[in-house]
Amino acid sequence: MSDNTTNQGLEGITVAETRISDIDGESGELVIGGYPIEELATNATYEESIFLLLNGRLPTDRELANLRAKLAARREISDEVRAVLRRAAEEEKPAMDALRMGAATATIGTEDGTPQDDAQRVIAAFPTIVAAYWRYRQGKKPVAPREDLGHAANYLYMLSGEEPTDAAIRGLETYLNTVVDHGVNASTFTARVVVSTESDLVSAATAAVGTLKGPLHGGAPGPVLDMFKEVHESGEPEGYVRETLERGERLMGFGHRVYRVRDPRAAVLSTAAERFYEASSNTEFFETVQDLEECAVDILAEHKPDRRLETNVEFYTAALLHGLGIPKDVFTATFGVSRVGGWMAHCLEQLENNRVIRPRAHYVGATGRTWTPVGER
Ligand code: CMC
Repeated sequence: MSDNTTNQGLEGITVAETRISDIDGESGELVIGGYPIEELATNATYEESIFLLLNGRLPTDRELANLRAKLAARREISDEVRAVLRRAAEEEKPAMDALRMGAATATIGTEDGTPQDDAQRVIAAFPTIVAAYWRYRQGKKPVAPREDLGHAANYLYMLSGEEPTDAAIRGLETYLNTVVDHGVNASTFTARVVVSTESDLVSAATAAVGTLKGPLHGGAPGPVLDMFKEVHESGEPEGYVRETLERGERLMGFGHRVYRVRDPRAAVLSTAAERFYEASSNTEFFETVQDLEECAVDILAEHKPDRRLETNVEFYTAALLHGLGIPKDVFTATFGVSRVGGWMAHCLEQLENNRVIRPRAHYVGATGRTWTPVGER
């Protein structure tokens, strides 16, 4: 018989000890590997964040060069993976479906494989999978990865076929570092559950992609950009917010399971985005975004006086990625390109001291039934 105390959504339940990241939802602080997100996001390259996640400290010069070279050498995807992505693009499947299919088809060569090598292979393959899919969606050939470019620069290069500017590279590094890890969020929990059964890292990453896809997790930035565009056109943020809530819908980019204040990642991404819009003289669009935020937070406070609904990471993700020229269709997949680093680090951590993750459910179904043959039902 099962215990009848149920915690729907596992809210507030601690399921692991971790050294990877820590969140204070009341004060709005996020710390990754001991560094406040504001400091790490704006200074590190993605490779430095990955080293930090996988090793618990920042790399030396030599260690960083070594990791960069290893990731760069592992970017290529097989013809088999490309064929799956071409088909997904031809059938106009969403990018997250393509990423799931591509990740599932990616096999890991494990002859010399330590778990760290396997994790690096998965991390290195994700940008190539997303970019190849996107090129096929455009009716173009995938752009081969370039070993001389860093992880972020190479992703931008493979998406557009053009060498990115230093400002765009820095903007994307900041984004990738900001969302690389965030406690035991739904997709990270999924990845940990998968490896807790002693399954493999590709399976964990594939399952986690499926979890990230949903709008209550990583799927919000596309709809957020639609909202920006609609409000920019109408010039009526208040009308948009009120009508959305009156229809009983949630306002994308607001609210969080853990934060009761503004998500600290929103501040980091807002600063990075503002720089971009100023440089591209598209300040009007960014002003719309800021006005919308201000107005939405006030209306949400009236709408739910007992629950603080503040801006979350996805609001300014949409602003920044749009500013960087990343297509809306791959916003969530770009989140995956970053978060796969967190998934892999959590998987390795789970395996250090593993116990299969296996919670229970409180049974509320029928009891005491007796079998009736099919013809008598
Ligand atoms: N707009 C309007 N109402 C909301 C919103 C919102 N964005 N978020 C929560 N509420 C309401 C919700 O309807 C509920 O009302 P009631 O008690 O009357 O049913 C109340 O606030 C409490 O919400 P909840 O569903 O218990 O909150 P949760 O912790 O389960 O969900 C959330 C957190 C992020 C899924 C939710 O706030 C949401 O759906 N936000 C909109 C989608 C979004 O922005 N997603 C990105 C999430 S952040 C990225 C990440 O970390 O993965």
